[in-house]
Amino acid sequence: MDILALVGSPREAGNCDTLVNRVLEGSGAAGASIEKVMIADLNIYPCRGCMECRPTGKCDLEDDLKLLLDKIEHADALVVAAPIYGNHLPGQFKVLFDRLVGVMHRTDNSVPGKLTSYSRLQKKSRQLLLLAVAGAPREESCEQALSFLRRVFLPETNGGEIHELRAIGLSAKGQVGMNKEELTELVAKLTVSEPEEYLGRMLARNKCYLDGAYQLGREITRQ
Ligand SMILES: Cc1cc2nc3c(=O)[nH]c(=O)nc-3n(C[C@H](O)[C@H](O)[C@H](O)COP(=O)(O)O)c2cc1C
Repeated sequence: MDILALVGSPREAGNCDTLVNRVLEGSGAAGASIEKVMIADLNIYPCRGCMECRPTGKCDLEDDLKLLLDKIEHADALVVAAPIYGNHLPGQFKVLFDRLVGVMHRTDNSVPGKLTSYSRLQKKSRQLLLLAVAGAPREESCEQALSFLRRVFLPETNGGEIHELRAIGLSAKGQVGMNKEELTELVAKLTVSEPEEYLGRMLARNKCYLDGAYQLGREITRQ
């Protein structure tokens, strides 16, 4: 089973990256072959709006898009991790989806008022795991990005399950992977009234996210 993970954060060793590594540890332990792509390492030009891809599925911009599309087609499970910027995806991640959607999907709007997307990729069941990481301590901060990603990748799942993980209250780089000493240093810089209690909550939350990511990695591999 082949798992492809797309990390939409420009921060290597950031929270998305750390959680994706944990997912992939779970998948690897369950026997999957895994590949992680940091979107920031790809050369993807912004869409020019020519609309050629809509009827043809082809884009003649020469960059890494085709390579990524082949990897997505080949994958049995997709892990997509988004940091929340401005309550949505970072602009550089959105650039990829503007380019990807027409080459990955064929849209049918022949029935007035009804628009349906079909995958152009090999029809196979793909598990989908969506991860959203927000600095704010509110799950709602993740909703717009998750709803967008669900809509983008639904046609590729072909009945495969969709899993989601919302990791909130994580601002500092790699915070989700910090140990007690590192978190103590972080808390010392914050003005919180009960630092010990706050630290305890942060540690418990990190464990919950990291364990959850590992479990989800196993789950998407089993199915
Ligand atoms: C430009 C920018 C905008 C952000 N906007 C939001 C936001 O609207 N809501 C939120 O909860 N966090 C926001 N954040 C915080 C990030 O979601 C948070 O730092 C997250 O941990 C980043 O994930 P990463 O470590 O994988 O890069 C923003 C961060 C940046 C750099």
